[in-house]
Amino acid sequence: MAVLEILEFPDPRLRTKAKPVTDVDDRIRNLVADMFDTMYAAPGIGLAATQVNVHEQVIVIDLTEDRSQPMVFINPEITVLGDETADYEEGCLSVPGYTEPVARPTQVKVKALNEQGESFEMIPEDLLAVCIQHEIDHLQGKLFVDYLSPLKRQRIRSKLEKAHRVGA
Ligand code: NI
Repeated sequence: MAVLEILEFPDPRLRTKAKPVTDVDDRIRNLVADMFDTMYAAPGIGLAATQVNVHEQVIVIDLTEDRSQPMVFINPEITVLGDETADYEEGCLSVPGYTEPVARPTQVKVKALNEQGESFEMIPEDLLAVCIQHEIDHLQGKLFVDYLSPLKRQRIRSKLEKAHRVGA
């Protein structure tokens, strides 16, 4: 197991569309283990494979502080069930240091495969619904800053680019 490097906005690799996983095998289970290590080390509550430069449809989430509810979503598909949306203050390990409110549907259904390759469905609520939608966006090459005004997005981009230059 290993802590992987997390790509940061505006790295163009974050714009890659992830491919579906064809076999949920040991290679994928190793990736999942590394993604949990990486997410917990950050620390964060969700991570998409895209963020560690692996462009396959794998997401890990754990909303608990004691790391007691690890969840894996492979090839997730989301269906919006209602018109209701709500704002939630979102952050992202690929956009460190920034949070902004993003409006998303509150009622969604998710279908995915687990680590054993078994299909399951769930209706996530509250923060879990937000988090799953945020992570599925990553698999499609989308970031939460894409929902902000161009001005706000540009401001965050400039500051992160400057931070990356200083860090490098
Ligand atoms: Ni994120």
